[in-house]
Amino acid sequence: MRLILLGPPGAGKGTQAKKLIECFGIPQLSTGDMLRAAVAAQSEIGLRAKEIMSSGKLVSDDVVIQIVAERIEQPDCAEGFILDGFPRTLAQADATETMLKGKGLELDHVIEMRVEDDELVRRVAGRFSCAHCGASYNDQDHRPKVEGVCDKCGHSDFTRRPDDNAETMRTRLKAYYKETAPLVGYYYCKGILQFVDGMKPIDEVFADISSVVAPRSSSGNP
Ligand code: AP5
Repeated sequence: MRLILLGPPGAGKGTQAKKLIECFGIPQLSTGDMLRAAVAAQSEIGLRAKEIMSSGKLVSDDVVIQIVAERIEQPDCAEGFILDGFPRTLAQADATETMLKGKGLELDHVIEMRVEDDELVRRVAGRFSCAHCGASYNDQDHRPKVEGVCDKCGHSDFTRRPDDNAETMRTRLKAYYKETAPLVGYYYCKGILQFVDGMKPIDEVFADISSVVAPRSSSGNP
């Protein structure tokens, strides 16, 4: 299964992608995570991307397209993948189609996650994650079960993203509505777009996504 999770910053793409990995056994390809890894490694791409990401603007198409083109060649993508945060522009969407066509493949689903702006800002402002395994939490409504201890891996180091602040969030939202929202029409015209109400609680959103990607079994077994 080849799936795109499309939605604004804070819509829950990463949260749902991680649940889908457990259910379907295919990898999450998050360009945001890949770029943050490049920044941390201080690679050439990371050095180019660092300031752009901190400002909330989009990294250039050629850089992200190259990263994804290399990533989908890896053996773990053979059975499919979940694209999270990519494509984000019409040029990236066209490149995705070309990449897949070249392999005789196509996308199965594009799921638009709809969430109101006020809620997006609230979620992003409160977001933190485990520095060890990347599990995502939120100050207000999704704290670890034991305070200061990651539910998933038991480590106690947590981190916050430098772009998760009100000012950068405004730029990120503008970038979404200007550059990425046109992809809703792009995939609608291809007949593969469906939407879910991302305002619902995490497990309910997951059930709705599951019923889109595996309609006969929304219980988690594809
Ligand atoms: P990226 O890392 O992709 O960030 P983003 O798209 O802004 O998305 P987020 O990770 O902020 O949100 P999410 O939808 O994954 O939400 P999450 O599940 O974490 O990109 C970062 C930067 O990299 C970009 O600004 C750009 O510079 C660059 N970049 C990346 N890809 C690029 C590309 N293709 N082209 C160009 N540049 C690119 O959830 C958020 C919070 O909400 C969490 O705390 C979570 O616990 C909580 N939450 C989730 N779901 C729910 C729910 N249903 N109810 C209540 N809380 C919830």
